[in-house]
Amino acid sequence: MNNLLLCGFMGCGKTTVGKRLSKTLSMEYIDLDAEIESEAGLPIPELFRLYGEPYFRDLEHEALSKLSHRISCVVSTGGGAMTFQRNRMAVSPEDLVIFLDASFPVCYQRIQGSDRPLLRTNTLEEFQALYENRRTAYEQAASLVVNADASPQQVEAAVLEALQAAGFPHK
Ligand code: S3P
Repeated sequence: MNNLLLCGFMGCGKTTVGKRLSKTLSMEYIDLDAEIESEAGLPIPELFRLYGEPYFRDLEHEALSKLSHRISCVVSTGGGAMTFQRNRMAVSPEDLVIFLDASFPVCYQRIQGSDRPLLRTNTLEEFQALYENRRTAYEQAASLVVNADASPQQVEAAVLEALQAAGFPHK
């Protein structure tokens, strides 16, 4: 069976909804950011601070490429992962990418005060522009788009409904 990948902006609910889905669907859960942190032995803010974003992006690409060896996992990607063509191309055609589409105010409200590097280093205007600029990439990466403004329970239910309509899991 295929992997399910969740993509979307920081705060769209990839981790919360991903964990729920993995339980409901009895699929293993992978948090791509956690994989990167454990591989590098450092938290993401430290990776950005010490080595810069390009280094983090290379680790992210490696972690994503390794998913081709995994099956039947629910994967939460980091908010930037699917914005890079090399990462979109590294996703197996057998996998299904879902874009959790939450509005900017909702994403911002959920992550306000967190130590995400891109939140700290951008002005609010720049951060919102990043959100707008990334939408096309998420849409390109995903076969399913689910509105993600509601509660985790409601978003999970909407994802399950969309999966059923799309005939997932494919045997
Ligand atoms: C990033 C999002 C973060 C993390 C890193 C970069 C991004 O993940 O991968 O800080 O570029 O949007 P979340 O989307 O889980 O916050």
